[in-house]
Amino acid sequence: MRPENDIILSCTNLVRMFGDGESQSTAVDGVSLELMRGQFALLMGPSGSGKSTLLAMLSGLLRPTSGQVHSRDGTDLVDVWDLSDREREAYRLKYCGYIFQGYNLFPALTARQQLEIVLRWGLNTPAREARRQAEETLGQLGLGSKLNLLPAQLSGGEKQRVAIGRALVKNPALCFADEPTSALDWHHGENVVEMLRQAAHERGATLLVVTHDPRLMPFADEVFHIDDGRLTDEAHAPVHAAAS
Ligand SMILES: Nc1ncnc2c1ncn2[C@@H]1O[C@H](COP(=O)(O)OP(=O)(O)OP(=O)(O)O)[C@@H](O)[C@H]1O
Ligand SMILES: [Mg+2]
Repeated sequence: MRPENDIILSCTNLVRMFGDGESQSTAVDGVSLELMRGQFALLMGPSGSGKSTLLAMLSGLLRPTSGQVHSRDGTDLVDVWDLSDREREAYRLKYCGYIFQGYNLFPALTARQQLEIVLRWGLNTPAREARRQAEETLGQLGLGSKLNLLPAQLSGGEKQRVAIGRALVKNPALCFADEPTSALDWHHGENVVEMLRQAAHERGATLLVVTHDPRLMPFADEVFHIDDGRLTDEAHAPVHAAAS
């Protein structure tokens, strides 16, 4: 049984259309799901099936055409798309970490500054402490010698690791990741898989990760499958039960 207050994120009948008239298409078509505290969930599906669109709506970045997203703000469940823009921004800064498919790093900030800024703006962390935490997290990601480089001076895999560090450095309650290991070699990929696992299973973060990386599968508590904008029947297969 799932105690009601362990639900950290849920959505009901989420729909997102793009375009209008003849060219209108439905990217996400009536998705409902629940995520619990400390849950490590994967979202899998073919290219164009609606994974990034669903993640963007769940994480408060893209307004749904219809349907609701409820998320825990402290002890209350709030309707994320009912909040004012300012309230939603504050909620996102405080509770959510994002690893985007295209990384979305700030071009003018160094690797260390990318992490410092979320700590300072999101959590009001004092400058010296923000710097310490940023350096520690980047060190764990093998970027200790790249602290002062700008995104343009980093390789694709290094940019991806900075984006991962930016999402995890504030110990977010919720972390949304879109193909977080896609640009990484085997060694760095393993390291990132372990950091994500620790965030969920040791620090109680709730993770929703879009991935095709089989290394993430053994750690996942649940795998949601999406095809053509809809969750398919396998959507709620618990990985451990399926494997035993
Ligand atoms: N801004 C947009 N305008 C029009 N159509 C869009 C837009 N964003 C997404 N789509 C369409 O919605 C569908 C789902 O896109 P989405 O990016 O969510 O897929 P995805 O599952 O993340 O694919 P991939 O694995 O390739 O990243 C696609 O058909 C895409 O063309
Ligand atoms: Mg995508």
